[in-house]
Amino acid sequence: MGLRERFGLTVSPKLRVVVLTGAGISIESGVPIFRGKGSMWENPEARRLASRSGPPWNTRETWEYYEWRRKLVNQCKPNAAHYTLVDMEKYFEKFCLITQNVDGLHVKAGSKNIQELHGNMWKGRCTRCGRVVDLPETPLKSLPPRCICSNSLRPHVVQFGETLDPKVLDAAFTASKQAELFLAIGTSSVVSPASQMPLLALQNGAKVVEINPNQTVLTHNVSLSIRRKAAEGLPPLWKELLA
Ligand code: OAD
Repeated sequence: MGLRERFGLTVSPKLRVVVLTGAGISIESGVPIFRGKGSMWENPEARRLASRSGPPWNTRETWEYYEWRRKLVNQCKPNAAHYTLVDMEKYFEKFCLITQNVDGLHVKAGSKNIQELHGNMWKGRCTRCGRVVDLPETPLKSLPPRCICSNSLRPHVVQFGETLDPKVLDAAFTASKQAELFLAIGTSSVVSPASQMPLLALQNGAKVVEINPNQTVLTHNVSLSIRRKAAEGLPPLWKELLA
């Protein structure tokens, strides 16, 4: 029996689809992960740079650390999973992509309606006027980069201990609540509030599909767990849903 029959889903452009992505979707693009083996923190240079930066975040030291990360990510290209999400967004009328990633690879692939829960490393934010500025080039000409109001910018990225943008959070929770199909891709589902979103979708009757080569805390709750890498698991799932 195919997925659509098993789920009792009518796949049409009207289906409300929400996708939550985490660091795992970018692994096949070569972006270093946060925790565990092979993570960014195993690199002494990352630890050294990160330990020098701290609040108020609009400093040269913070940007040196971010420039180090931006340079690494700049060499990475979106993979088949990122591009499949672009196709899905074109097909569904109400499609919401929620990401915990700050690498900007969804934007690079061509996704449009994205709720970036933790911000985007290719943007800066003014600590005085609040303006958000695109900073697509690395290396930056001067550190810290400046706003047009002349104040220095901070990275537009949520730092540990900071609260998330309430507007982004509200849009993500509202979409999760209304979802009929929810895909959780490449996330360990341990970092709140993102981890609550698939559970909220489940409680409201959505079918929840996880794509992750490893078991997560979500695995036993979901409608289907696909134990594959994102770039290998998502394109065939999308084909099957469309068939
Ligand atoms: P994690 O690093 O916690 O989890 C990555 C997940 O990806 C794990 O569950 C892996 O099993 C899975 N994975 C590994 N290879 C994969 C592949 N090829 N395809 C698909 N999945 C794969 O990342 P997140 O859940 O995103 O916060 O963690 C959330 C947040 O934790 C990050 O956004 C970051 C960090 O603290 C901030 O930057 C504020």
